[in-house]
Amino acid sequence: MRVVVSVGGSVLAPNLRADRVREYAACLTALVDAGHEVAAVVGGGGVAREYIGTAREVGANEGQLDQLGIEVTRLNARLLLAALDDRANPTPFEAYEPASAALSRGELVVMGGIVPGQTTDAVGAMLAEYAEADLLVYATSVPGVFDADPNAEADATRYEELSATDLVSLIAAGESLGSAGSSAPIDLLAAKLLQRSGTRTYVLDGSDPDRVREAVETGEFEGTEIRPDGSA
Ligand code: UTP
Repeated sequence: MRVVVSVGGSVLAPNLRADRVREYAACLTALVDAGHEVAAVVGGGGVAREYIGTAREVGANEGQLDQLGIEVTRLNARLLLAALDDRANPTPFEAYEPASAALSRGELVVMGGIVPGQTTDAVGAMLAEYAEADLLVYATSVPGVFDADPNAEADATRYEELSATDLVSLIAAGESLGSAGSSAPIDLLAAKLLQRSGTRTYVLDGSDPDRVREAVETGEFEGTEIRPDGSA
């Protein structure tokens, strides 16, 4: 199976712990060794938010802040690459075409952000579309897509599955209420890319990388499955 794993920065490197980075490297290589074609897209996490916050205070504009964020996602990608040693590309890919080509050759692919104006949620969705992946896994710090913010509301309920169009509507409704991201750990652009590509997608709590491996290997996971529109 060809799979793209989008790993949030706060999932890969909470407090920059080496063990989590090692565990993710082991998870990805285990999937490759099991015969899968694997790409990981790494986010910026809390470190990116801190840099962006400080740079905003000193007067950087939004495009410059995005570029700063991209650099941090690539820094985190390099951290994962360091743990992968020679099992993957030496430096993070910066474009879809070479990343997709490497994936087709069976190489383990690691990348961070690409261009300003989006997040790595969209990079994961776009790479999955470009490379015609069978599956996209969002390994996030929230265990799926909920009807309310699970960290703020005790009775928030998780969707077991959603169509891509329902996901887009849900995120758009949240944004119009001014609470972007409160109930969906994926942003609107990424959801729209999933809608048009029809990529099968799992959203799960990535704090234990074994959950990612198990989800890919067995299709069993606790979280939310985003189904292509019209699929059963
Ligand atoms: P993330 O993908 O980590 O953003 O990229 P996020 O979704 O806000 O982070 P989490 O999931 O909550 O931890 C960090 C920042 O880098 C910039 C954006 O500013 C983003 O917020 N970025 C990233 C881009 O501009 N383009 C990209 O392709 C990727």
